[in-house]
Amino acid sequence: MSEALPRIVQAGDPVLRAVAQLVPEKDLGTPELRALVETMIAVMHAAPGVGLAAPQIGVPLRVIVLEDEEGRMARLSKTQRDERGRVPFGVRAFINPTLRVVGDDQMTYFEGCLSVSGWAALVPRARTVEVTGVDVEGHPQRWEVSGWPARILQHEVDHLLGTLYVDRMISRTFCSSEELSTRWADKSVDEVRKALGG
Ligand code: CO
Repeated sequence: MSEALPRIVQAGDPVLRAVAQLVPEKDLGTPELRALVETMIAVMHAAPGVGLAAPQIGVPLRVIVLEDEEGRMARLSKTQRDERGRVPFGVRAFINPTLRVVGDDQMTYFEGCLSVSGWAALVPRARTVEVTGVDVEGHPQRWEVSGWPARILQHEVDHLLGTLYVDRMISRTFCSSEELSTRWADKSVDEVRKALGG
């Protein structure tokens, strides 16, 4: 694919702080909506990232895509995968998603955002969520999931409400991607919090 992909807008652009609009029912299954989802998947792959919301390419609509592949977690040990609740899943798109937290359990881990490029922080998230919405053709879909996919869903649905992870992070743990990879990648959450506070 040689056509230029849209750029990922960065924090400071008001589109990331607006509440995105519902996709009208008449637009479900149209070539335009399919093209938007295809573009979003291509942008997510090129970044690379595990999720993208339409406002991140400047489109103020309630559309998210997400995917996590085996290859992205190849470096992680079994323990590290379990700690993060990381499991591979194929590409999914939700149109007009609504999210419900299931239970009271929380998980805290590092999170970054393609629209806050170069940074990360510890963010507490619900362990399990249920997302309902429709797919690109308008077919109802529901996904109840725990761990890393649940974190991605919370992060992406937040984007549709004008919320960024920096609004939810443990701010003292905000760190550059370089510090994250060289200093904290193989440390426990407790060690990070002890060293940085928060
Ligand atoms: Co993001």
